[in-house]
Amino acid sequence: METRKVLLFMGPQGSGKGTQAQLFARRHGYRILSTGDILRKEAMKGTELATQISNTMNEGGLISDELIFKVLRNHINELPKTENLILDGFPRTEKQAVQLDSVIDVTCTIYILLSVEEAVQRISGRVQCPEGHTYNTISAPPTEKDICDVDGLTLSQRKDDNEDAVRHRLAIHEKEIANVLGHYRTQQKLFTIHGDATIDEVSQEIEAKLAPYAN
Ligand code: AP5
Ligand code: MG
Repeated sequence: METRKVLLFMGPQGSGKGTQAQLFARRHGYRILSTGDILRKEAMKGTELATQISNTMNEGGLISDELIFKVLRNHINELPKTENLILDGFPRTEKQAVQLDSVIDVTCTIYILLSVEEAVQRISGRVQCPEGHTYNTISAPPTEKDICDVDGLTLSQRKDDNEDAVRHRLAIHEKEIANVLGHYRTQQKLFTIHGDATIDEVSQEIEAKLAPYAN
């Protein structure tokens, strides 16, 4: 019987799932597994597989269900079974949702809504450190320019944060997400949040929905 809580943060590119996952995790002692951050680290390894991953991500495509599930499952298996988890960016297809059910009990899911135009605008201002801590040069700047407040590492723009790749990511998301949401709606585990408010306002709404899972 699983005792840990497992929360999923989902949403289109730029909706703030990474930002909100980090805020909730810091407040309530959850560990975050972000498939995007995991893949960005894999992509730096210099192997043939790393080159394939890097090319797919830079074009804004999806990594295959088989590969991403294998990578995520390895990370989950390395963690103590009592540690509460947030998954940021997984699942993105119905098949991934079904695969996830075979290894872990999902407690609750949050889906953050955002329009395409707002997403494209936000992503043009995003900067990140290698550990995935995220800022925005317009709406959420770091205290010191180009330096991460959390770990002092240098901030930079992601390679896939160009308008073509972002629009490609958003189009894939649009195609796949209805079935993923249907999966969790049927299980009565889905909350939908409007992402077009300030970071603090969105965070307050998430805190209200997830109050039963806060420590
Ligand atoms: P991933 O890294 O997950 O990228 P993504 O899905 O494109 O989502 P983003 O990280 O771009 O957006 P976000 O919602 O986290 O927004 P953020 O909080 O940064 O995945 C990258 C790639 O990896 C994928 O394209 C794919 O190739 C691959 N991949 C990953 N998972 C996979 C899977 N399961 N299957 C297959 N392939 C997979 O916020 C955006 C910006 O807006 C920031 O600058 C932030 O400061 C700002 N901001 C946030 N909230 C607000 C607000 N309320 N108001 C104003 N600004 C805000
Ligand atoms: Mg993210």
